[in-house]
Amino acid sequence: MFSMRRNMSNSSMIRRAREHSLGAFRLNRGVELGYADLIGLAHVEETMHLHIPVMEREVIQALRADDPTVRRLIDGTVGGGGHTLALMRAGIDEALGIDLDAIAIGRAKENLNEFAERARFVQGSYIDMAAHAEAMGWDEVDAILLDLGASSLQMDDPARGFSFRFDATLDMRFDVGSDGATAQDLVNGLGASELADLFYRFGEERHSRRIARAIVERRPIITTRQLAELVARVKPRKPQRSPKTHPATKVFQALRIAVNRELESVEIALPVAVNLLRPGGRLAVLSFHSLEDRIVKRSFRKLSMTVTAPPGMASIKETVAQARPVHRKPIMPSGEEVRRNPRGRSAKLRVVEKLERA
Ligand SMILES: C[S@@+](CC[C@H](N)C(=O)[O-])C[C@H]1O[C@@H](n2cnc3c(N)ncnc32)[C@H](O)[C@@H]1O
Repeated sequence: MFSMRRNMSNSSMIRRAREHSLGAFRLNRGVELGYADLIGLAHVEETMHLHIPVMEREVIQALRADDPTVRRLIDGTVGGGGHTLALMRAGIDEALGIDLDAIAIGRAKENLNEFAERARFVQGSYIDMAAHAEAMGWDEVDAILLDLGASSLQMDDPARGFSFRFDATLDMRFDVGSDGATAQDLVNGLGASELADLFYRFGEERHSRRIARAIVERRPIITTRQLAELVARVKPRKPQRSPKTHPATKVFQALRIAVNRELESVEIALPVAVNLLRPGGRLAVLSFHSLEDRIVKRSFRKLSMTVTAPPGMASIKETVAQARPVHRKPIMPSGEEVRRNPRGRSAKLRVVEKLERA
């Protein structure tokens, strides 16, 4: 993989990067990250060797896994299978676990061995969950979970190129087997202003332009270490900066979000998921930074709204509410959970229930 990428021609990297970035930016133009995003984004750089399911108890309650009428679950981000395992132990009868990452699917299969007969897995995107459900013969389900972002297993795998803690080829694709653009493609293929936009929009990197210019001057940049060292060299030093936060944290997080089109996928998937629920079924989404959460909040609001055009106002698009929010405010992890699992400290859980008449 390393040498294949090294030998890839400059023009093909540029083409892949451009094709990719158009899609990655489409839905997020003009969205700005706040300070809370950075706290959220930073969570993935912590050293952990286990993926501990975030707000496990709250997810079980939200999806009513112990209710005998709640039988079928789609876990659209099955990862190592932690949430699915807990949900099945709580009473879910059949589960379909989806993940872009074939390695995660392998791990989930092992971890759900006790439910081998009733848990199925598919490597793919949750945006295609309706097709995956249809392939199972399911036309509707009782519960859907999306636990967004990367898992600790991915962040802590030195070969995946997600983290500056290990020197590896800059990859960052959740779906390693795909021919999608890698972080290396973006870093070496985008122009300085596109790179700066990417770092600013998906990482709120204040020095985005300076970093982007330095990258363009010094490329090709092949490895995580090269990129991390370059960013650390060009960013002005702040004496008060927390020693725990590497100067390249925001740049790495922004690249990961762009490579995997994370925000675009969430926006596409939420209406698809609600559509797939049976009346009374629930969708629970765990987000980890305010950009994600803003999309979830906005989309849930839209799905819960009925709009009737007044007479003579045919230009107003009428809509019928399909779901209702289950809680007024998002659920956050307890202080005790955050102490046990700092990765979850910025998590927000939002839940909607499909309406009977939708
Ligand atoms: C936070 S982890 C989920 C961890 C899981 N809940 C557990 O308990 O082990 C998020 C997972 O979502 C996957 N993922 C991200 N985007 C995806 C997408 N569009 N479709 C399917 N899986 C995706 C990642 O590969 C990662 O394994």
